[in-house]
Amino acid sequence: MTSPEHPPVGTDPTPPSEPLPWLEEMPPRQIVAELDRFIIGQDPAKKAIAIAVRNRWRRSQAPESLREEITPSNIILIGPTGVGKTEIARRLARLAGAPFIKVEASKFSEVGYVGRDTESMVRDLIDTAVNLVRTEREDEVMPSAESKAEEQLLDLLLPPGPTPLPTAPAAEGEAAVKVFTVSSRGEVTPTEAEGGAAEKRREGSREKLRKLLADGALDDREVEIEIVPQNYPMQELMQQQPGMEGPDINIFEMLQDLLPKRSKRRKVKVPDARRILVDEELRRLVDMDDVVSEALDRTENHGIIFIDEIDKIAGERLQTGPDISREGVQRDLLPIVEGSTVQTRYGYVRTDHILFIAAGAFHVSKPSDLIPELQGRFPIRVELSPLTQDDFVRIMTEPENALVKQYQALVAAEEATLTFTDDGVAEIARIAALANDRLENIGARRLHTVMASLMEELLYELPDGKHQNLTYDGEQVRAHLKAIIEDDDLRRYIL
Ligand SMILES: Nc1ncnc2c1ncn2[C@@H]1O[C@H](COP(=O)(O)OP(=O)(O)OP(=O)(O)O)[C@@H](O)[C@H]1O
Ligand SMILES: [Mg+2]
Repeated sequence: MTSPEHPPVGTDPTPPSEPLPWLEEMPPRQIVAELDRFIIGQDPAKKAIAIAVRNRWRRSQAPESLREEITPSNIILIGPTGVGKTEIARRLARLAGAPFIKVEASKFSEVGYVGRDTESMVRDLIDTAVNLVRTEREDEVMPSAESKAEEQLLDLLLPPGPTPLPTAPAAEGEAAVKVFTVSSRGEVTPTEAEGGAAEKRREGSREKLRKLLADGALDDREVEIEIVPQNYPMQELMQQQPGMEGPDINIFEMLQDLLPKRSKRRKVKVPDARRILVDEELRRLVDMDDVVSEALDRTENHGIIFIDEIDKIAGERLQTGPDISREGVQRDLLPIVEGSTVQTRYGYVRTDHILFIAAGAFHVSKPSDLIPELQGRFPIRVELSPLTQDDFVRIMTEPENALVKQYQALVAAEEATLTFTDDGVAEIARIAALANDRLENIGARRLHTVMASLMEELLYELPDGKHQNLTYDGEQVRAHLKAIIEDDDLRRYIL
């Protein structure tokens, strides 16, 4: 086996991606700083999450006997609509190392779900972990997989010739094909040559092809490769059917293992062939048993499950109708949050130390409407504050994915530039705040609707080429949105 350090031959070595810091090795301050890149304000929530995450690393440093006793600091994020609860979760997921999934609690109260289905979140988590670890391992061996794939591709493009005996004369009727000539367009033609010279020329041809391959000159060429069919379609089939997941009913997988894997020869274009060959090499180089055991460990000790919309399952108790099932869902969640063992297709997963972060607007219900046992498992409550007009200004401009930046990128695609003056941004924020006040407070989501109405005409007309350098100040923003602001009905439908 080639060592991972083996440099890829011929191809541009992709620069090693920045090693992302392991989420739990990051001090809380750094986790908050990472979240700050995308989320404005909401410091208490960011802090609570950062502490909870770091606590798990601290736990792993504690003496064995105590470690089992230290339970995760599960959190409930409480706050009105559109202030960043889900957004915090999405960004947390991007930080490396810890398997993370987000589920909607309301999904479990839908018709057709049965109690056991709450376990599916643990199965989803282990699936995520396996993918995470496998990707990490694949990244490690990628250079050597790529260089092996390249050699194979060259073998395919330049069929190996019979090694010539130095003195053997060519037999009658049999052409002495020992070498190939590669034209500048990459055409391979057999040529005759003798002995050592043949070897040399062969080598030369190969290098020439390697160069052409790297330059993409052979991308239209077809080669014939052997394709071993994968299991993926079957797995997807299984996942599409709720209730059929889980290791107890993996008949499909069993069947698949029984059926002989028939490989097919297929003609494919060079870039596709390269992808297929790299994939095959990766499968050979990455030890899946190892991946699975690491994934199990990460899931149990570092996994994070974000339960969104938890307020939707916190109904007033003693009510009839759907609320009974809400309490039912809470009861089903309880063992998982409290710590139990869930059977998955990769083996048993203990949930005792998985970190749960729940979030909800709690407009109607209150956290105290949750069953007491569940409340007890979420000891940390953090409130997110409603967003102010000043927050809107910052949300529109500061985050790395800020709305203004998004629209600027869209406009740039049409070779125009878009600028908002401070005054222009302030006006958008004011209108958004006003709409939230008068209609319904949907938080920062309002910025999206206001911006969409403001930009609609421009985005429609841009390709006409009339617009080049566009600047929006307060006056222009007002002028564009005037009709909408003044008309109550329009406002209701558009903003
Ligand atoms: N504090 C914030 N900083 C930056 N952007 C924000 C912030 N709050 C909300 N947003 C923007 O508003 C959108 C909606 O926010 P998010 O999905 O987090 O709402 P939520 O708090 O989960 O609300 P809900 O209770 O309705 O689910 C986000 O996609 C994001 O663009
Ligand atoms: Mg949300």
